[in-house]
Amino acid sequence: MIITVLVPGQVFLTEYAGPLIIYLLFYFRVPFIYGHKYDFITSQHSVVHLACICHSFHYIKRLLETLFVHRFSHGTMPLRNIFKNCMYYWGFAAWMAYYINHPLYTPPVFGEDQVKLAVAIFLFCQLGNFSIHIALRNLRPAGSKTRKIPFPTRNPFTWLFLLVSCPNYTYEVGSWIGFAIMTQCLPVALFSLVGFIQMTIWAKGKHRSYLKEFKDYPPLRSPIVPFIL
Ligand SMILES: NC(=O)c1ccc[n+]([C@@H]2O[C@H](COP(=O)([O-])OP(=O)(O)OC[C@H]3O[C@@H](n4cnc5c(N)ncnc54)[C@H](OP(=O)(O)O)[C@@H]3O)[C@@H](O)[C@H]2O)c1
Ligand SMILES: *[C@@H]1O[C@H](CO)[C@@H](O)[C@H](O)[C@H]1NC(C)=O
Ligand SMILES: *[C@@H]1O[C@H](CO)[C@@H](O)[C@H](O)[C@H]1NC(C)=O
Repeated sequence: MIITVLVPGQVFLTEYAGPLIIYLLFYFRVPFIYGHKYDFITSQHSVVHLACICHSFHYIKRLLETLFVHRFSHGTMPLRNIFKNCMYYWGFAAWMAYYINHPLYTPPVFGEDQVKLAVAIFLFCQLGNFSIHIALRNLRPAGSKTRKIPFPTRNPFTWLFLLVSCPNYTYEVGSWIGFAIMTQCLPVALFSLVGFIQMTIWAKGKHRSYLKEFKDYPPLRSPIVPFIL
């Protein structure tokens, strides 16, 4: 029996290119999604365009990080993972995109103020997440497989390391909450919730392995939500 394995970079590229493309198909309203009279007709709501920019930005960032920032230590990953993860990311992207780009979509109740707040949260968390990835990259010299305790650096976004083990996941959840506030769309809220549960499970695992690996691990840190989780 042949078990195909791929390197993590290939897995992530497949996982992240999918949502990017799928979302855009709905955004441009390609035929056979919403009915003929809407084919390639753009929405008149500005928040729909903004949401598309944010969604695309998120996945392009992830793709670029996979290519240029992360230093993976695991050689390979089973092909089975790709199916599971793609079902999850691609499925949710299609579901969210269907509703946000729907011709009958209604913009947020609190209008522009709500959208502005949401964009601020979204961008703040994207920057935070990126800062953490740079900090983790700098912990690992090129070509090596060592793992060290991450500490705050001069970049204020990394100061969250004082309180949590996985600030990258904290920021990740925050940016999806921002996206949910921006679009005020139920599938996005669900995606944020499921993501939060998954991130918490991973964060607890990573936190535990840090505690096991490092005797002098900072005791103040929680896995993902400061002082709580
Ligand atoms: N099953 C699980 O428990 C579990 C947990 C987390 C993630 N995942 C999988 O991973 C994917 C998402 O995880 P992710 O986005 O967090 O990416 P990731 O696979 O954890 O990759 C991030 C990169 O940063 C490196 N890194 C992390 N901590 C470091 C440290 N202290 N010092 C030096 N380098 C460090 C990682 O090294 P390493 O390669 O050495 O970790 C890895 O190369 C998911 O699709 C999921 O399938 C699974
Ligand atoms: C997120 O943070 C955890 C804990 O530091 C780390 O193990 C994981 O690899 C990070 N993910 C990425 C993509 O850097
Ligand atoms: C944040 O970090 C996680 C893991 O480190 C990554 O998978 C995710 O794409 C990032 N999220 C954002 C909002 O950039």
